[in-house]
This record gives sequence, C-alpha cells and structure tokens, in this order.
Amino acid sequence: MTATIAKTWAITGASSGIGLAVTQQLLKQGSKVVALVRSPQKLQSLKNQYADQLIIIELDLNQTEKIASTIQAAFNAAGRIDVILSAAGYALVGAAEELSEADITAHIEANLLAPIFIAKAALPFLRHQKHGHIMHISSEGGHITYPSASIYHASKWGAEGFFDALAKEVQALNIAVTLIEPGRIKTGFDEHAHVTDIAIEDYRKSAVGAYFRLLAMGRFPMIGDAEKVATRIIETSTMPKPVLRLVLGSDSYKNITRETQKRLDSFIAQAETAAQTDAED
Ligand SMILES: NC(=O)c1ccc[n+]([C@@H]2O[C@H](COP(=O)([O-])OP(=O)(O)OC[C@H]3O[C@@H](n4cnc5c(N)ncnc54)[C@H](OP(=O)(O)O)[C@@H]3O)[C@@H](O)[C@H]2O)c1
Repeated sequence: MTATIAKTWAITGASSGIGLAVTQQLLKQGSKVVALVRSPQKLQSLKNQYADQLIIIELDLNQTEKIASTIQAAFNAAGRIDVILSAAGYALVGAAEELSEADITAHIEANLLAPIFIAKAALPFLRHQKHGHIMHISSEGGHITYPSASIYHASKWGAEGFFDALAKEVQALNIAVTLIEPGRIKTGFDEHAHVTDIAIEDYRKSAVGAYFRLLAMGRFPMIGDAEKVATRIIETSTMPKPVLRLVLGSDSYKNITRETQKRLDSFIAQAETAAQTDAED
C-alpha cells in the first residue's frame, strides 16, 4: 500500500484528534504534510522530528478572509498537493433558541464556510495539476440529527450537500471528493465542544434535556479509534475510484442506515400525494 499513498496532503485540524492521527501516520509513511492550524506550537515536536516533510501554516478557520491566500501559500510551499483534508471542526451544543447569533455565525464559519472556501481556493491548483482529492470530515450527523445539535447538523448536512454537488462538478477533471462519516470517535471532540451558557428552563423538560441526561449516562460512547479511522482515510486516498461517502464505525453504519430507511419509507408513502401537485398539462 505504501507505494500508492499520495505524496503531499494539506490538512486542517492537524493539531488534534483525527487530523493529527492522519498527519502522524502520513509522516511516518514518508508523505509530506502541509498542516493548516491555528495553534502552530502544538505541532512543534512533530516539526522537530519531520523537519523536511512537515510544513506548518497558521490558519484560524474563523478568519475566512485569509483562506484563499493561505491555500495559495500552501501550494507555493509544497509545489503540489494531492489531497486536501478538512478535518477541523467542533460541536456547538444547546437548543437552537439558547444559542447566540455570534456562536452560530462562528460555528457555521469554521465548520462549513471554511471548508467550502478551502475547496474553492484549491480547485484552480488541482485543475492545473489535472489530479487531486478533496476529503471532508462530515459525520453520521450529516444524515441523522440529535436535539441540542441543530447548528452542528446544519454545518454537516450543508457540507454533505456542497461536497456531493462538487463531486459531480469535478469528476470529469480527475478530481475526487470524499465525505468521511464517522460515528463517535475517541478524540478531544467532546472536551472541545462549545456548550451554550444561555439556559432556558423549558428545554430541560424537552428532548434537549432528555438528550443531555442520556449523554451524562454514557449512552453515546465513543467507540471509534482515531488511529484506525486515520488508516481508513489514507487507504481511501489510494483507491482508483474513491467512494463519495465513507462510513466509519458500526454506530455510524447503524444510525445512518436506520434513519435513511425511515426517510425513504416516508417518501415512498407519499408517492400518490406528491404527484397531486403536478400541473395538468
Ligand atoms: N470525534 C468524534 O466523535 C467525531 C464524530 C463525527 C465527526 N467528527 C468530526 O471530525 C472532525 C475532527 O474532530 P476530532 O474528533 O478530531 O476533534 P478534536 O480532537 O477536537 O480536533 C478538532 C480540530 O479542529 C481544530 N479547529 C477547531 N476550530 C478551529 C478553527 N476555528 N480554526 C482552526 N482549527 C480549528 C482544532 O484545532 P486546535 O487544536 O487549535 O483546537 C483541532 O485540530 C470534526 O469536523 C468533527 O465534527 C468527529
């Protein structure tokens, strides 16, 4: 497998969790990584170890106006980038009514707008190369929803729509797109979640409160292994025809197939009523 691993990757979120695991495995296997991170100091020891293979460029995804020039700097520094992996992201937790507009805006910027801007900025280079793979870490939460995570789901469902359409736009240009859809993976994800500090008592009695109680009872265990996830992501980059949607984790598989089947059943049950709004002529 080693011989076919893409040579150069650009990775957001390379400082923690899944992005860090992918970065470490790639460096170990001899690939080059351009790490796009807001805290470069977190990668200093890796830089000391892999001085020639690791390029670190500072990028805070909330500074969306800097994305295009940063991607240009990444291609200039690396010469060529084969895979762009958007692995940065975080959870915003709270009932929609409990979230401030500033928190919602910041979340959509980092989780959705930034990956879109990164892909858009990388595309001229990938077209010029006549080759490339854009990977985005979505989630099982790009197909299913939990109360208290509406904005997180908006970011993941939004990304699902964007990258699904993008895949069709670039397929003929030899550019692949993959949405990675993990279940719960052991990383710093829960610890780094932004939990609203506005509490509206009514929601403690609703599905939001029930969800928090189940979470506290450990009903959503992190069963996934970040190293195994990283290995599958890297393997997927070596496929001649990579899948558009990469489901990772038995929890993700179970939840996505159950909810998709429910949606399909609901659509099929409306076959006749849907047609009733067709124009007569
Ligand atoms: N872990 C799970 O259970 C799970 C499940 C499904 C999907 N996912 C998705 O997987 C992706 C990676 O999450 P993870 O599990 O690896 O979590 P993590 O360990 O918390 O890592 C998150 C990464 O995102 C970076 N980041 C967050 N906000 C940023 C910003 N504004 N600008 C630049 N970088 C930013 C963090 O940088 P710092 O180190 O500077 O904070 C960190 O590198 C996320 O998109 C998440 O939604 C995770």
